[in-house]
Amino acid sequence: MTINNMPFPKSVRALSLAAKAWYTPVLLGQWIFVAYIIYAYGWPVVMGEIGAWNNHISEAYVPGRTMGNIAVAAHLALAIIIHFFGPLQLVPSVRSRFPAFHRWSGRAFVLSVIIVVAAGAYMLVVREIGSWTLKAGFIFQGFLILWFAWQAVHYARQRKFPVHMRWATRLFLAASAVWFFRVMIMIWFVLTGGIGIDQSDGTGWFIDAMTGLQFLPLVLYEIYWRIKAGNSNRAHMTFAVFLWLAAIATTIGVGLAALGMWFPVLG
Ligand code: HEM
Repeated sequence: MTINNMPFPKSVRALSLAAKAWYTPVLLGQWIFVAYIIYAYGWPVVMGEIGAWNNHISEAYVPGRTMGNIAVAAHLALAIIIHFFGPLQLVPSVRSRFPAFHRWSGRAFVLSVIIVVAAGAYMLVVREIGSWTLKAGFIFQGFLILWFAWQAVHYARQRKFPVHMRWATRLFLAASAVWFFRVMIMIWFVLTGGIGIDQSDGTGWFIDAMTGLQFLPLVLYEIYWRIKAGNSNRAHMTFAVFLWLAAIATTIGVGLAALGMWFPVLG
């Protein structure tokens, strides 16, 4: 099935095109999320109504709880940097045409994730949120983010760019967990009508299952890069089909998250 142990160019192109098709709604969806963060948390600060943060996350702003409020503010402000610049880091043409931009936004991204993880861990301590399994999942994700950031920087400094790219992609996926979490819940709603989710308070067994499912993008990436580096045409084509399906599901998930959750015009 292969020429000189290489996959056919057609399969390589099919996989690359499918990866781009999946990545497009991810990039656009993260920018819609940025617009939501600014609208939901930035705008109330400008209007002097910080209490409106609590409409989106409970106990986000508690008068007098200075450290807790600063942690939430830092978490959300730096999430803007992460979700705006992060998706651009993985676009090859941006990297090749604007290398200085890639370096500087990469540094800002890494610095931001370190602070955001620390602030997020503090938020878990001072606020009441969900089950202990969900908390454990967030904390594990935080450790992964710090480990991936360390490795991505390490290999960039050593100028081992193919390895750097793999760690940086893992970092991007882990740092985007909060976004994937919401999009995956929306996809689940489409598929099942929301089985396992209590819509009155956003709890339920499916939300608890998200403790593990939030790592799905990372698992799929490990499969993807191995297939891409391997020589099986069948694996290339099968994963390409899967990525096209994922692209459709992600587009629907982003659309519903945008219209039903972030800018709720769907009532
Ligand atoms: C670097 C990656 C991360 C980013 C970009 C990020 C971003 C965000 C954003 C934008 C929100 C508000 C979501 C909304 O309004 O729908 C949020 C909420 C939250 N984040 Fe993070 N976060 C990250 C990592 C973490 C980690 C590692 C933890 C814990 C260790 C954490 C803990 C929390 C908590 C507790 C909330 C409030 C959730 C709620 O009550 O519904 N975050 N995060």
